[in-house]
Amino acid sequence: MFARLIGTGSYLPGEPVSNNDLAARGIDTNDEWIVTRTGIRSRHLATPGATSSELGLIAAQRALEMAGVSAGDLDLIIVATSTPDFIFPSTACLIQGNLGNKGAAAFDVQAVCAGFTYALGIAEKFICSGSHKRALVIGAEVFSRILDWNDRGTCVLFGDGAGAVVLEASEETGILATAMHADGSQNGILNVPGQICGGQVTGDPFLRMDGQAVFKFAVRVLADIAEEVCLAANCATNDVDWLIPHQANIRIIEATGKRLGIDRSKVIVSVDRHGNTSAASVPLALDEAVRDGRIQRGQKVLLEGVGGGFTWGAALLEF
Ligand code: UT7
Repeated sequence: MFARLIGTGSYLPGEPVSNNDLAARGIDTNDEWIVTRTGIRSRHLATPGATSSELGLIAAQRALEMAGVSAGDLDLIIVATSTPDFIFPSTACLIQGNLGNKGAAAFDVQAVCAGFTYALGIAEKFICSGSHKRALVIGAEVFSRILDWNDRGTCVLFGDGAGAVVLEASEETGILATAMHADGSQNGILNVPGQICGGQVTGDPFLRMDGQAVFKFAVRVLADIAEEVCLAANCATNDVDWLIPHQANIRIIEATGKRLGIDRSKVIVSVDRHGNTSAASVPLALDEAVRDGRIQRGQKVLLEGVGGGFTWGAALLEF
C-alpha cells in the first residue's frame, strides 16, 4: 500500500512585493544586497487581518479540485504552520470546519520550515498503516506577522502563502520513503522566543536568526537527509527527476544540489518570487511545477525542508 499524491494546490496573497518596494517602505536595504545574498526578488505579504487558515483553505480547495475529491471524503487533515490563527483550536480544525468536513482527524504540526515534510511523513504513516484512506496535508503561513520590520537581516527574507496536497491509499506507486529529524540543542539559532503569559506577550515576539549558523546547518542536513531517503528507497540521487528543497536562499539550494550531484536543471526554484514561506515553501513550489507540467506522472520527486528547532525532513515520491 502506498500514499499516492492525487492533487496539489497553492495560494499566494495579494500582489508581489519587490525588494525595491521594501526599500521604498523605509527598510534600510537594496535590491542588489537581497538578490546577491539570497536570490529573492519579491514575496507576497498578506493583509494585516489575513490568517493562515484563510490562505490554507484556498490552497486546500484547489488541491481537492485537482484530486477530484470532495472534502467529506477526507479522513485526515494535517496543517503544518508556525503562525496558527490561535493558540487553539488548531488551524487544521478551522480549515476542516470551513471545508465542511466532519469527523476527519485534524491537527497541526509545528516543525517550522520542515513542517510540511514532517506532516507528509505523518500522513504517509497513517495511510500505510491502513487506518486512514484520504489525507489533506497543508503548509500555511503568515510569517509577516512575526517579523521585526526594523531588523533588515530577517524581514526581507520571508513571505506569506500556502500549499496543499491530497494523498490517497493506493496500490499504485506513491511516497517511497520519508525521514524526519531534530536537534533541539540548536534551538537558539532560529526562533521566536516570546510567549503568552497572564494575558500578555512576555519576551521577544519576533523571529530571530543567526543567519550564518542556519546556513551551514541547513546545507549539511539537507544533503544528509536526501541521501537517507534515497538509500531507504533503494534509489540513487542520480535517479531523482526533481529536487524541491526548502525555498529559503538560492545559495543553500544550489549548494545542496551540488553536494548531491543533482544538476541545476532538475532543481525547482521559487524562492526568487516567494521568499521563504516556511512550511508553505515546499508545497507551493511543488504545486507550481505540477501545474506548469514540469513534474510528470512516473517521475521521482525529492522534497526536503529544514527549519527552527532545529528540524529537518524529507520525502521521496514517485509522482
Ligand atoms: O528556513 C531557514 C531560514 N533561514 C535561512 O535559510 C537563512 C540562512 N542564512 C542566510 O541566508 C544568510 O546568512 C543571510 C542572507 C541571512 C545573511 O547573509 P550573510 O552573508 O550571512 O550576511 P551577514 O548577516 O553576515 O551580513 C553582512 C552585512 C552586514 O553589514 P556589515 O556588518 O558587514 O556592515 C549586515 O548589516 O550585510 C548587512 N545586511 C544588509 N544589508 C542590506 C544585513 N541585512 C541586510 C539587508 N540589506 N537586508
